[in-house]
Amino acid sequence: MHAQKFIIRGGKALQGSLRINGAKNGALTLLAASVLARRHITVSNLPQIEDVFRILDLLEKLGVSVERDSERTVRLGVSTSPVSTSLDPEIAKCIRASIVLTGPLLARFGEVSFPHPGGCVIGERPIDIFLHGFRALGATVEERSDSYRVRAPKGLHGARIFFRVVSVTGTETLLMAAVLAQGTTLLVNAAMEPEVVALADFLNTCGARITGQGTSYVTIEGVKAIDGGAATVIPDRIEAGSFALLAAATHGRLTLEQCDPTHLDALSAMLQDVGVRVQTDRISMTVDASHCSLVARSLITHEYPGFPTDLQAPCVVLLTQTDGESRVHETIFEGRLNWVNELVRMGARITIADPHRILVHGPTTLRGRSIESPDIRAGMAFIIAGLAAEGETNLDNIYQIDRGYEHIEYRLREVGADIQRADA
Ligand code: EPU
Repeated sequence: MHAQKFIIRGGKALQGSLRINGAKNGALTLLAASVLARRHITVSNLPQIEDVFRILDLLEKLGVSVERDSERTVRLGVSTSPVSTSLDPEIAKCIRASIVLTGPLLARFGEVSFPHPGGCVIGERPIDIFLHGFRALGATVEERSDSYRVRAPKGLHGARIFFRVVSVTGTETLLMAAVLAQGTTLLVNAAMEPEVVALADFLNTCGARITGQGTSYVTIEGVKAIDGGAATVIPDRIEAGSFALLAAATHGRLTLEQCDPTHLDALSAMLQDVGVRVQTDRISMTVDASHCSLVARSLITHEYPGFPTDLQAPCVVLLTQTDGESRVHETIFEGRLNWVNELVRMGARITIADPHRILVHGPTTLRGRSIESPDIRAGMAFIIAGLAAEGETNLDNIYQIDRGYEHIEYRLREVGADIQRADA
């Protein structure tokens, strides 16, 4: 695939409606859950994004049959043994989320091999929580120079597992490992994200016995087999939040259709504190920043239901447009504020206190620049910055954005954005 870039001309308030797609991180785990099931599972409302395509590639390489029922629906089936229990290293190294496949492979086939997930611009991304959990469930872990082999030839057994830090994919992976274990597993300090709840609810429809999802204590009573079933990916709260922040930063008005506003409480509160009007009903949210004076507010990222780290970068762009000083504390990933150096080149006035904390002084006029997208969410932040800025922004490395946002340029043009895709 050749390198592409976005050319963005900013300065317009965006107006209109955008439909929210299925959640990237919800889709990846539901697809991985197919490995557990002894009959077909169907996953619908899949976003058409690079990370979903790569996980489907990974599943096919394991021997899972992948049939496309329609553009957004796939039917997945695993025969009694997959062709392989080794994750393809090239794909697995690029997508950290591929690690969620280790839980179902170990549970169903008693073995999994996988590479160490690559370091990443947002932080170190260790996997100690996963290895600790596998050992607690009775598996042996062989650590090689750049890969792992985890084995439980006689099956896993239930255990009480305490998470030293709250981990979303850690919770999802160990939950899937435990559904076929003998006995009961208790996950303590589990992640409470809606994607974890959706996964547990779906597995329960397939015969799993999971309770407590959505709280920090999740109990899994092991069962003998997981049946087939059908899952629908929940709306992408991070996509909805990104578009909400885009509306606010451009002084526009956007209605986000087919989202779940109950998953966006922390964002709604932040927007309202800043002075943006937010209206919600059951499946939509309207964010109106036209004719609003925006005031600075401090931001602390936190595990769900707190303010998501995945919206920190888009929110920092909004804070550059507010009046006053905002303190931003990124508590989850130590590398997730590095991107602000480039925002400073666009005219933002930001003081970096340490890797986790910055001060944003606003309001500032942003100016278009040539920028590279370091990761999915900072990439989205640069789209927002480019659309709020004066002049032209050339945004490179947009594969990162395609990993998580479907056909972003078409959708944003519908609401008045001037954004074009071109060969880099
Ligand atoms: N951590 C450890 N040891 C581990 C695992 C995690 O110390 O073994 C630490 C991490 O270094 C981090 C903290 O725990 O400091 C939380 O990380 P977590 O494990 O929750 O992150 P993740 O599960 O790898 C998911 C999302 C991320 C999102 C984070 C936090 C998926 C596929 N990814 O990652 O999404 O930022 O939770 O909410 O669900 C994105 O979509 O752009 C994205 C990066």
